Amino acid sequence: MPEHTFRVNGEQVTVNVADDVRLLWVLRDVLGITGPKYGCGINVCKACTSHLNGRAVNPCAIPVGRLQPSDEVTTIEGLATGEDLHPMQQAWLDHDVAQCGYCQPGQIMAAVALVEQVAAEGRAITDEDLDGIRNICRCGTYFRIREAIRAGAGNM
Ligand code: FES
Ligand code: FES
Repeated sequence: MPEHTFRVNGEQVTVNVADDVRLLWVLRDVLGITGPKYGCGINVCKACTSHLNGRAVNPCAIPVGRLQPSDEVTTIEGLATGEDLHPMQQAWLDHDVAQCGYCQPGQIMAAVALVEQVAAEGRAITDEDLDGIRNICRCGTYFRIREAIRAGAGNM
């Protein structure tokens, strides 16, 4: 079985799996990192949203064989700093966003990547930016998600 080395939440990992196994299954089933959720498995629902080198990606669509040793994968488990929640996680709590919670790790990871991208462009977040988050929430928490992103962005 081929060996694949990359970084996850600040630590180097090596896994022995076939090249075409998708990263979501490597994270969840091989590494035991279950924050990224399985929803559709075909890059549609966005429940698995995580970061690859700081950008939001859907690991259900990334074959592990594409990863390089220097690639940094960040999941919801890697967002907090020790005991300190990331400002976006705190905003989620303050706005009581979650209902069933299943989509929420992906929503938060998408939000953080969006806010960081907008900040790198030197501008404030817009409604159009928020419309660009396509993560599905079957519980319909979209209004609270938008409120929390604006609040979290103000503290990032
Ligand atoms: S499980 Fe990855 S997009 Fe749906
Ligand atoms: S909170 Fe239930 S799917 Fe979003």
